Amino acid sequence: MTDIKLERQENQSGDPEIATQGFGCISSKPLPVFNPVADLDAACEYFESNGFVVLEDCLNVAELTRLNEFFDRTQKEVPEKWGHGKRKPHHRNQGLIFSQPLLDYPELDDYICHPRSYPLVCRLLGGEDSVRFSELNLREVPEDAGIGSMDFHHDAVSDDRFLRAPYNPVDWLCRIHYLTDTVPGTPAFCVVPGSNRFETLKEARQSQGDDYQEVPIYGKAGTCILYDTATFHTRFDGDGRQKRRSWHQYFARGGWLKSSLPTTSRYVRSPSPALTDWNLFPERLVFHSDPKVRLLFSHWNTAQGEWVASGFSDEVRKSMPRGEQ
Ligand SMILES: [Fe+2]
Repeated sequence: MTDIKLERQENQSGDPEIATQGFGCISSKPLPVFNPVADLDAACEYFESNGFVVLEDCLNVAELTRLNEFFDRTQKEVPEKWGHGKRKPHHRNQGLIFSQPLLDYPELDDYICHPRSYPLVCRLLGGEDSVRFSELNLREVPEDAGIGSMDFHHDAVSDDRFLRAPYNPVDWLCRIHYLTDTVPGTPAFCVVPGSNRFETLKEARQSQGDDYQEVPIYGKAGTCILYDTATFHTRFDGDGRQKRRSWHQYFARGGWLKSSLPTTSRYVRSPSPALTDWNLFPERLVFHSDPKVRLLFSHWNTAQGEWVASGFSDEVRKSMPRGEQ
């Protein structure tokens, strides 16, 4: 989810040194880190209060090796899919991105519902039957990439988020796994805790007062971050020299939520809309023999609908903006 419904924030600080990186209220306090199995309840509670949560050890050494090998291999075999040599226009200063690796690499299927983090993903979206897949991409900030300067922003949001009660479950959930160690000096995912309850970053700053914080999240390879896409975040730049690899995956909330209040309407929340108008799901997942997998991949956008109607034609896929990536 790199460029749709992305609302960029103006520099509110007036300080050119922190022009695109918020108000400069960088927190150095360590964040709580949860074991996703032993601390499932606490992790869920923390997410619902803060709009994000950090989970430890979500990939083992063998998985990290395989995923890093996937980066190495595909960057060599299909460099154009990563944007090597030619920076893709939609990537701006975000380094290398492999936008739709699931289309051609079934070897990644086993990671989609990774057993370490997936139980919490299910819980946060209202149960396993309510989880829908939206997008999976792989990213790398290469060595000596320089400073990218990403603005604080939120990803997709729904208009009813300030009106509904309760606020949770969220509309979309993003899951980031660090595939390389992330320490001060490497680019880091950076979040403003609790900012999902505000329309703008400025409002969060004014309302939270001294509690307002911009928190770069550091952690070793295998660390996982879940965040509500309405939470303000950015990539906090490091020294511009060190490499960082990460795997980003988005989930949506599916199903109709019934009202628990005596309202005129029986249903109060419809399934979340498609996250992008371009992301495609491959045939093997859309028409999987397991109905649970088909449900997970059931949130189609119009591009997907047209691709399915064409019988998953290569020509139709290639005609789409990121069809070859
Ligand atoms: Fe984002």
